[in-house]
Amino acid sequence: MSQPFEALKITENIYWVGAIDWNLRNFHGYETRRGTTYNAFLVKSDTGYILIDTVKRGFEAELISRIQSVCSLSEIKAIISNHAEMDHSGSLTKVLKRVPADTPVYASAMGVKALAAHFDGLKATAVANGSTLTIDGRTFRFVEARMMHWPDSMWTYDEADHVLFSNDAFGMHLAGLERWYDDCDSAILAEESARYFANILMPYAPMVAKACAGFPSLGLDVRVLCPDHGPLWRGEGIAQIISKYAQWSDPSAPRKKAVVVFDSMWHSTERMAFAIAEGIQSTGYKCQLLSLECNQRSDVAYEMLDADVVLVGSPTLNSGMLPRIADMLCYISGLKFRFKTGAAFGSYGWAPLGQKAVSEQIKPLCANLLDSLSINYVPTMDDLARCRQFGRDIVSGL
Ligand code: FEO
Repeated sequence: MSQPFEALKITENIYWVGAIDWNLRNFHGYETRRGTTYNAFLVKSDTGYILIDTVKRGFEAELISRIQSVCSLSEIKAIISNHAEMDHSGSLTKVLKRVPADTPVYASAMGVKALAAHFDGLKATAVANGSTLTIDGRTFRFVEARMMHWPDSMWTYDEADHVLFSNDAFGMHLAGLERWYDDCDSAILAEESARYFANILMPYAPMVAKACAGFPSLGLDVRVLCPDHGPLWRGEGIAQIISKYAQWSDPSAPRKKAVVVFDSMWHSTERMAFAIAEGIQSTGYKCQLLSLECNQRSDVAYEMLDADVVLVGSPTLNSGMLPRIADMLCYISGLKFRFKTGAAFGSYGWAPLGQKAVSEQIKPLCANLLDSLSINYVPTMDDLARCRQFGRDIVSGL
């Protein structure tokens, strides 16, 4: 019977059977402006098929329809779960109800525990890091990918077709009908892969760096790289995305950019931000200005990915900072961004407590925290000239 959703054959023996989430705009606080995909894969074995990952709950009909465009669910011999987070495991129990009762589920040791904790004691079998397993004539190798994105994260390599299923790693939140990276707009891929890294993987950058450095020693002949979100990589795209990950996770990679992010009450802090940003730019240093009136916290994270200077502006509100600044700083602190230099700025009425509160928040993020710049009520032209000079001074010598 024809299916409303069909699989896409990606190699001789492997099919994409995932789901497209066109409407997703919030992934635990990360604004996903272009939706996403939950990629799952079907691998042909001697007498049936092996399913790698599932999709978010609510998308199981799409997953099952794509599987049924290739085979019957009764032909599923095993399920490999690379990561227990619900966007990849949310349909697992529904799929298990439709496949033969003795279908094994394989996961990393941490994945076995996580799946049991998510799904009322669900029983899975642990596969060891570096081990290989032949299921129904098909051989897979398993690589622990801890903290890319959770402790349970694992990669699965299909030895026959040279395909690496990398789960969250090397993915991006991008809905679309194109499955291959080289069918997509390269500027959109560059932006969305960087947004994804900044908002999902940045806290684990040291482990990503280690994984990238150790990639050649895995000895895998990867010809197709299949993340669980966004397009699939092939050809030179594989080395390109791995090299981007190596660059983004390297704290010593050259960065020459300031981010000036602010919120304002009566436009005084806003005027200060404009003057500071122009002062920075006048030195030749790249500067990105972001008002939280029209940018989300995840836009800020994206711009911080290649920045080494951060300036955060808030006026004083009730002895502290504005709520949108507090929200953004909570998010950025969790992502563990690190900067060479930083400072707070803003206007105040009777005490510069907003800038003091911001300084305390950004201190752990900055190797060198400079004195904040506070201006009483409304900046004069002379004050704005001071702001411009403040910006110039901050990047001089960097
Ligand atoms: Fe796409 Fe960590 O889940």
